[in-house]
Amino acid sequence: MPELVAALDQGTTSTRCMLFDHEGREVARHQLEHEQILPRSGWVEHDPDEIWERTRTVAKKALRRAKADLSDVAAVGITNQRETTVVWDRRTGRPCYNAIVWQDTRTDSIAAALERDGHADLIRERSGLPPATYFAGGKLKWILENVDGVREGAEAGDLLFGTIDTWLLWNMTGGVDGGVHLTDVTNASRTMLMNLETLAWDPELLDVFGVPERMLPEIRPSSDPHLFGHTQAKGGLWKAEIPIAGVLGDQHAAMVGQVCLSAGEAKNTYGTGNFLLMNTGEELVRSENGLLSTVCYQLGDAKPVYALEGSIAVTGSAVQWLRDQLKIIGDAAESEALARSVDDNGGVYFVPAFSGLFAPYWRSDARGAIVGLSRYNTNAHVARAALEAICYQSRDVVDAMEADSGVHLDVLKVDGGVTANDLCMQIQSDVLGVEVSRPQVAETTALGAAYAAGLAVGFWSDPDELRENWHEDARWSPQQDEAAREQGYAGWKKAVERTYGWVD
Ligand code: G3P
Repeated sequence: MPELVAALDQGTTSTRCMLFDHEGREVARHQLEHEQILPRSGWVEHDPDEIWERTRTVAKKALRRAKADLSDVAAVGITNQRETTVVWDRRTGRPCYNAIVWQDTRTDSIAAALERDGHADLIRERSGLPPATYFAGGKLKWILENVDGVREGAEAGDLLFGTIDTWLLWNMTGGVDGGVHLTDVTNASRTMLMNLETLAWDPELLDVFGVPERMLPEIRPSSDPHLFGHTQAKGGLWKAEIPIAGVLGDQHAAMVGQVCLSAGEAKNTYGTGNFLLMNTGEELVRSENGLLSTVCYQLGDAKPVYALEGSIAVTGSAVQWLRDQLKIIGDAAESEALARSVDDNGGVYFVPAFSGLFAPYWRSDARGAIVGLSRYNTNAHVARAALEAICYQSRDVVDAMEADSGVHLDVLKVDGGVTANDLCMQIQSDVLGVEVSRPQVAETTALGAAYAAGLAVGFWSDPDELRENWHEDARWSPQQDEAAREQGYAGWKKAVERTYGWVD
């Protein structure tokens, strides 16, 4: 009997392969970063070939580290940075253009035109998303309109569109020699092209974006007993046919990994950005407070489960900015020591609106600001303000989530790299006035992809089995009084207003 399930987690800054056992414990991993291509202000690209090459390498090395045979692997699941858009030629396997990353703001004018031309309500109603630079539809439209030969090739059926899951799947299953062209409902729900109720490409939305349907992948459930395909020995990941049985966007995978499988359960993932999702069950809740409606996951033939999502573009990457651009810390971990060296923010607020502001503001005209400075302030106050910004942005989203869902969060489940920062987690608990809980397996995204794949092939029998695998590692309780909490938050709201209107 195979004893492991593999997960490929293709994220914004790195790609990792992890192997898990039946108890959901990590057995081995390997991880590699890839280049962030920044050709102009606001543009962010990745090289799809580099991503595929990194994926193959991490998969091989993780398996070697696990000292396992391929016969030990029951299934593989894929999870990925969402919205990032690739178009490639099915005959050569070559990408027509670099992948346009979710953070890229070049489609500003496309988003503004959708609003101006009166398409915003249709897009919101059908896809659950506001017209914004964030989503894949505008990026695909940009490639169709700006890269020579793409529109003709797409109409002729030679060119394929995919988010990163689709690109990896196609390559893993043989590429030019018969690779499958598929995606899952969660990734499709981030394109602005899928109808959230029918879970199919919406003809009117395709019309609005001018996208030929034949370039789009077929949409499947996130955990699919009929399988997405098998890894292929030739040129692929591993020299064996392993079933690929789970595919879901990284934030949706983290919901599964955190076993937020009942309505009202929520998690906040702290990565490059923050993504707070609340399971709303089979009910599609439409936000009135700046959140997104999205598919949480779909397990086999069961009905889809929906979620409300608050997406924040810049959180952990603000700490990277302190390291790489301001150079006031040597590594991300140092931000904690520096911020701890002062008792408070000394009146400084940092709003890292580098890609505009996402939820709940959706202001593409916003840009970053550090405000409240006096001569008394030091690097330490700026570092503390960066950590506070992560937490205040999460509070913005939690407030919107409670208003939309009517559910009050007693405990917030957290995961992702920044949760290793104990000070930041204490600030989060203070700013929200609720308990914050971190699980033992911090890699909930990869774990969720493994769960989706393992459920499809019977490695795990049902969601209850997954719940038993979840164990708490640490918990933080609020230590601040209500008056201090609200005073701090009022300062944040004032700072946010200062970021508007910097881009036409
Ligand atoms: O929507 C973007 C999100 O999926 C990216 O996640 O963890 O790769 O920054 P991450």
